[in-house]
Amino acid sequence: MLTSSLILHPAYTVGEVDPRIFGSFIEHLGRAVYHGVYEPGHPTADEEGFRKDVLDLVKKLGVPIVRYPGGNFVSGYRWEDGTGPKDKRPRRPELAWGVTETNEVGIDEFQSWAKKAGSSVMMAVNLGTRGPEEARNLVEYCNFKSGTYYADLRRANGFEEPFGIKTWCLGNEMDGSWQMGAKTATEYGRIACEAAKLMKWTDPDIELVVCGSSGSGMCGDWEAEVLKHTYDHVDYISLHSYYGNPANDTASFLASSMDMDRFIRTVCAIADYVKHVKRSKKTMYLSFDEWNVWFHSHGAPFEKWSVAPHQLEDVYTFEDALVVGTLLMTLLKHCDRVKMACLAQLVNVIAPIMTENTEDGGRAWAQTIFYPFMHCSAYGRGTVLDARIDCPTYDAKNAKGVPYLESCAVYHEDTQEIDLFAVNRSLEEDMAFTCDLTAFGGKELSVIEHLTMTSDDLKAVNTADNPTAVVPEANGDAKAENGKITATLGKHSWNVIRVKMN
Ligand code: AHR
Repeated sequence: MLTSSLILHPAYTVGEVDPRIFGSFIEHLGRAVYHGVYEPGHPTADEEGFRKDVLDLVKKLGVPIVRYPGGNFVSGYRWEDGTGPKDKRPRRPELAWGVTETNEVGIDEFQSWAKKAGSSVMMAVNLGTRGPEEARNLVEYCNFKSGTYYADLRRANGFEEPFGIKTWCLGNEMDGSWQMGAKTATEYGRIACEAAKLMKWTDPDIELVVCGSSGSGMCGDWEAEVLKHTYDHVDYISLHSYYGNPANDTASFLASSMDMDRFIRTVCAIADYVKHVKRSKKTMYLSFDEWNVWFHSHGAPFEKWSVAPHQLEDVYTFEDALVVGTLLMTLLKHCDRVKMACLAQLVNVIAPIMTENTEDGGRAWAQTIFYPFMHCSAYGRGTVLDARIDCPTYDAKNAKGVPYLESCAVYHEDTQEIDLFAVNRSLEEDMAFTCDLTAFGGKELSVIEHLTMTSDDLKAVNTADNPTAVVPEANGDAKAENGKITATLGKHSWNVIRVKMN
């Protein structure tokens, strides 16, 4: 049996969690939009064609912000195609993913879907094949009240009130050779700066996210050069990172969050360097607006130029859920700088929610990764505590000194609750866990619940026929005694221990 301990103190905090850290992402890609959120013929479809079974699952996850419409898709997108009467909208070859885009859904529909989901929209503009002019027109269309061309076009399309979209991404992954209109850091820095100016002059209340690197391995000079051009005009820099286990080396895979941690620290350091060079008083915040496990579906075939084929449909295993849990804790532990993050993506495409499309409807279900996200979104909105942790470590192929325990503690002062999230990375041994809360003033402690999620089979998955193969249970053994919480964290398990202080 391994042992680990955590010491918490109310005065030692990382920061307040911005709920937008529990954001997600819907791209016009595969079956995310069509047959995912939108399927007019489905028995649960509402009057606008949105699947209510999917909406219910999204609400269960609690997703305050959803990035849209891409992704690689946005770098060739004409936003006007997705507005106005549906029968007049053009079908176009979509070059990012090699499919046909029907434009049945655009910003008019998506902002309505987002409202129903209880989310706001994080809107990306095309800085690949287009530029500042089209970007500022879109801000006018979405956010201007009336009396100008694009605002009145929106009203003519049936939307009297502005959409009021606050958060905007200045393109997507512009450093990637796979991107339509990819740019050097200098080219992108300049166009992002000019787009930012026009967009903020159109609506000074918006916030802007400038593109950082497309992966942790690409970061460095890109961020420094882009921020040199844009620092005064933007509010966030983006980070994207995906992890996988193609070599079936689970010990290394479970250490993925160490890479995410290093990536965040590096981008903070670069942003702070530019802040110093510019003698700026502004701190640049981070938007980790694409993150997830993504590797199962690599190379899966699909029919070129078809509409909404099965693309990037990773079927997530139990071990993927453990990794997602550690990634979520890593984001939380950087909540002083990471203000937004988007699990990429939300439905069907590398997603926690899957749907079937059959003649008579089709089911929707939660993949394994749904659950750690749901738990963190429900219980992770509070003050992250700066824990002192003691636990043994192991060496993996991709990282040395990997702690067997990954954990994060969130304090809710208003309800006097502390929620502890923990993963035991050991594949062989259970862990005796102690959390010392005596610094909270000798309050009487009680355990509200100890949720666990585990499986003997690391590769177990949820499917339409067996949607509950891997689900959390309230069966943990956590107990409170003398100002401390003790619990057993089963080998390779996800845990949520909810503690009340009286
Ligand atoms: O989320 C899938 C793709 O991953 C996105 O379109 C792109 O931005 C990233 O490379």
